[in-house]
Amino acid sequence: MTNALISAQAAPLTGEARVPGDKSISHRALMLGALAVGETVVEGLLEGEDVLRTAAAMRALGAEVTREGDGRWRLYGRGVGGLAEPDDVLDMGNSGTGARLLMGLVATHPFTTFLTGDASLRGRPMKRVMEPLDRIGARFTARSGGRLPLAVVGTEAPIPITYELPVASAQVKSAVLLAGLNTAGETTVVEPQPTRDHTELMLRHFGADLRVSDLPGGCRAVTLTGQPELTGRAVAVPADPSSAAFPLVAALLVPGSQVRLPAVGMNPLRAGLFQTLREMGADLAVENARDQAGEPVADLVVRHGPLAAVEVPAGRAPAMIDEFPILAVAAACARGTTRMRGLGELRVKESDRLAAMARGLAACGVAVEVEGDDLIVHGDGRPPAGGATIAVALDHRIAMSFLVLGMASAAPVAIDDAAAIDTSFPGFAALMNRLGARIRKGTE
Ligand code: S3P
Repeated sequence: MTNALISAQAAPLTGEARVPGDKSISHRALMLGALAVGETVVEGLLEGEDVLRTAAAMRALGAEVTREGDGRWRLYGRGVGGLAEPDDVLDMGNSGTGARLLMGLVATHPFTTFLTGDASLRGRPMKRVMEPLDRIGARFTARSGGRLPLAVVGTEAPIPITYELPVASAQVKSAVLLAGLNTAGETTVVEPQPTRDHTELMLRHFGADLRVSDLPGGCRAVTLTGQPELTGRAVAVPADPSSAAFPLVAALLVPGSQVRLPAVGMNPLRAGLFQTLREMGADLAVENARDQAGEPVADLVVRHGPLAAVEVPAGRAPAMIDEFPILAVAAACARGTTRMRGLGELRVKESDRLAAMARGLAACGVAVEVEGDDLIVHGDGRPPAGGATIAVALDHRIAMSFLVLGMASAAPVAIDDAAAIDTSFPGFAALMNRLGARIRKGTE
């Protein structure tokens, strides 16, 4: 276990934590920059593995993509419909977002693209995007179960569709909308519950014509007018709320902590964790709320305090879909029984997160159950036992969640492989240690 890390009880966490740029927004900035006419300058780009794979893919598709300095990237795009056939397989690494959004982009370009990824990504379902893209006219050859590696044969004559999402997935919505960019006519996606709308906001920012309407029953319809002229823009990427969640929950759990997190993305469709933690009694202040390139951002100030159990309704899941692992850690340290409902989608993330959290928390002495798609965590307000080594199965959020648990447990918690953390949060251990954490190499 050469990449193992162990996290022991932390000193009070204090100071300012500048967490890396938003992963979802970073992928989209590179993709739309590659399609826009003229120059796009991105500041605060997440330079994690996942996003670097997307940068390489956009280059392979013909865009000019240059790193100019820390988080600062310049792109010259090819214009909508102007991507060129890549001359090799695109390896999207660990990134479901990179792979699925890219499948949408190339589906309406008349050439063939081969995609693969790491062992985690090669196990994840791609049929959910193949199905609507097939209706648009693209063809696919994939491994059994609709898994990577796969080939996308893009269509020359795309058909504009109206697609009702069978699952609440921003990735599927985005794949269809990106395919709609090079499709004459109107492409509409109807979602059962609103999911993160970074694609919509960024499309507008680059000049696309997009209509969003709320339908009865909580559904939302997004209609894109095809073949717009996208124009290069400046994009300032906010700090990723899904990454901020780790120092934030750590500060709530470690006595004596107070941490400031500047310029965190506050998109309401990503804010489910903040709402839930407040319901649990968290001392979480929002300061300097402002707008950054069409996205709301604010500085967060979080102080340690006791947390009480809560019930998280299924309807909130899309607004905090990546935050359940770290919420489960908070719940393990809270007083009472926390029930998180409707987490079926967690089974098809970078790992089966429902199983991974249940197994890992149990190994750390926490009483936990999975009932159908619900995760139930029992806490007594005291530090969990800890004292386990967790297999993270190429899942960055499982890795970081258990390192945070170690900060608040009686005995240290180790993870077997920290490499995956670099997909979304390069420098995580160093940043946490600067605040007061005690994370070091090894398992004991
Ligand atoms: C993402 C959407 C979510 C999320 C993922 C990023 C995106 O996935 O889990 O980390 O950037 O669109 P789903 O859309 O599959 O739920």
